[in-house]
Amino acid sequence: MVKEKRRIAIITSGGDASGMNAVIRAVTRYGIYRGFEVYGFYEGFKGLINNKFEVLDSNSVGGIIDRGGTFLYSARSEEFKCKTGQKKAIENLKNNKIEGLIVVGGNGSFRGAHDLHEQGIQVIGIPATIDNDVAGTDYSIGFDTALNVIIDLVSKIRDTASSHDRTFVVEVMGRNSGIIAVNTGIACGADYILIPEIEVDLAKIAAQIKKHRAGKRHTLIIVAEGAASAAEVASSIKLLSGHEVRVSVLGHIQRGGSPSALDRVLAAKFSKKAVDLLIEGESDCMVGIKSMRIIKNKFMDVLEAKKDIDRELYKLAHTLSI
Ligand code: F6P
Repeated sequence: MVKEKRRIAIITSGGDASGMNAVIRAVTRYGIYRGFEVYGFYEGFKGLINNKFEVLDSNSVGGIIDRGGTFLYSARSEEFKCKTGQKKAIENLKNNKIEGLIVVGGNGSFRGAHDLHEQGIQVIGIPATIDNDVAGTDYSIGFDTALNVIIDLVSKIRDTASSHDRTFVVEVMGRNSGIIAVNTGIACGADYILIPEIEVDLAKIAAQIKKHRAGKRHTLIIVAEGAASAAEVASSIKLLSGHEVRVSVLGHIQRGGSPSALDRVLAAKFSKKAVDLLIEGESDCMVGIKSMRIIKNKFMDVLEAKKDIDRELYKLAHTLSI
């Protein structure tokens, strides 16, 4: 009699992040190497509820390492937030004889993953969100790629800003976190960074812009979506400084594109660790990277901590912009 292979499953959940495909590929191939059959459920928790999956093999994950988005699709499932939705998902996992689940996503997804663990499912998380707002890891998959997309776009804005001697207010994503904005600010040489974590006085900024104009051909203000809207900031700066201001809201373009080298390498390391943890019988935890080492954290520790911006980096960005 042929012995049935043990089964694990993977979902990608929440906002998509470039590098999720590289994770699906690495989990599938490393999982197969370790003797598992790997099930990919579509559209995150929604696919678990609706029992929509495909069995992944080495070929089905070929040619996706360099593709943005997620070929298993993603969703934010309202149904999964209630117990009846979770019950359906658990029944489907059990009926398919799936022993362990890997959830690829951000804080919201790990709340759901923790709920599954509480109801007897072995589950490991891999952090993936452009916001990089997941505690317990220096990087989440997709953050580095998003930054690279953003710096390319902001360079283009700089070209036109200095041609016309203009101030530009560029709005970046990040939900309630200023982490994308701070890193964009330092990487793009922004003059000012507005983030939800630190209050600033726009009148002071406007006065500085007026003073600095003599030697400068452009002013760049990066605003995190969680701090204010770029349009509001622009109209205040215009009113207070009398200077010509333009607005650019980068939007979902930040979530697309081929993953960076860093995100691809992280995808491989996180995926291996996640499968190894399942084999070791671990559950209720997320893999992460701290000071270049791959580690694990309990979901609750991750969810209870608020990841702060790098305050030194924020200060340095402003020091360097003078
Ligand atoms: O969490 C990633 C993110 O892109 C946030 O930066 C942003 O606030 C949110 O998702 C946008 O969500 P949606 O794609 O549902 O509009």
